[in-house]
Amino acid sequence: MAATRASVLVDEHDEARAGPPARSWRRARAVRSQPVTPRLELSAVAKTFGPTTRGGPTVEALAPTTLTVADGEVVTLLGPSGCGKTTLLRMIAGLEQPTSGTIAIEGAPPASARREKRIGFVPQSPALLPWRSVRANAQLLLDLNGRRRPPTSAPSVDRLLEEVGLSDFADAAPHELSGGMQQRVGLVRAFALGAPLLLMDEPFAALDEMTRADMRHLLIHLCEPLKTSVVFVTHSIAEAAFLSDRVAVMSPRPGSVVDVVDVPFPHPRQAVLEDTEEFFHLTTRLRETLHAGSRR
Ligand SMILES: Nc1ncnc2c1ncn2[C@@H]1O[C@H](COP(=O)(O)OP(=O)(O)OP(=O)(O)O)[C@@H](O)[C@H]1O
Ligand SMILES: [Mg+2]
Repeated sequence: MAATRASVLVDEHDEARAGPPARSWRRARAVRSQPVTPRLELSAVAKTFGPTTRGGPTVEALAPTTLTVADGEVVTLLGPSGCGKTTLLRMIAGLEQPTSGTIAIEGAPPASARREKRIGFVPQSPALLPWRSVRANAQLLLDLNGRRRPPTSAPSVDRLLEEVGLSDFADAAPHELSGGMQQRVGLVRAFALGAPLLLMDEPFAALDEMTRADMRHLLIHLCEPLKTSVVFVTHSIAEAAFLSDRVAVMSPRPGSVVDVVDVPFPHPRQAVLEDTEEFFHLTTRLRETLHAGSRR
């Protein structure tokens, strides 16, 4: 399982290593005036699953969905169970083909972004290998992709373990960690690869509310300096409001984006944000939009 997931990941960041190409002032101006390619662009992406048995029903999982994600932007998919969130993430990751519409990651189709290891996938369960230490688990995807060291644009595994407060557990076995600590190893594993686009499918759903809040603060802390773009799936309105730059609210199956809500809170975000009146107003608006979408 881990190996399958691992194959989705990794990124060389060759252009980051090489630095920007030399160009004249005139050329630089011309380049600046060109429109910027979004990190992720979904254009009318839809998915219908064919009948699994002869004469069985087809399932329209996702109605045409259009959405862009900019560099360093965190966009949350917030929607009821069965509205096609996982299906959409799997299509972005190149693990499932859309029935219609197009997906571009930095202008390239998912299959090539996947080959180039420019996409990271963080699942609900970190699936740590019990015979590997915490450090070795965090290092797993780099090892599987034949890397001794992370890409230069990504912090080292030890540095990331320190960031998430696990330095003292680097040599421990996974069973010695709590669920929240294990998911922190999962985050380190994904960030160590330096993939510019992270897809996260309810990564904190199995955690208790306090640990979950810690994890969202940690995720923001890791993403901000690296300018990682994130598509984050959740059922939690508070999680969506705290983490996101924009929240795409979805309707029930066949899922579609009924509204994209801007989250105006400045970065860096602190935990106290969740106690403010503005935060309460935003979560109320998201709840109302979610319920209105369900009544369509
Ligand atoms: N491989 C598949 N074959 C047939 N139908 C599928 C397949 N994968 C998903 N579906 C259907 O597509 C719909 C959307 O499923 P999906 O898993 O994307 O929902 P979700 O929004 O992630 O739900 P949840 O919040 O419960 O995880 C569901 O009706 C599901 O049964
Ligand atoms: Mg799902």
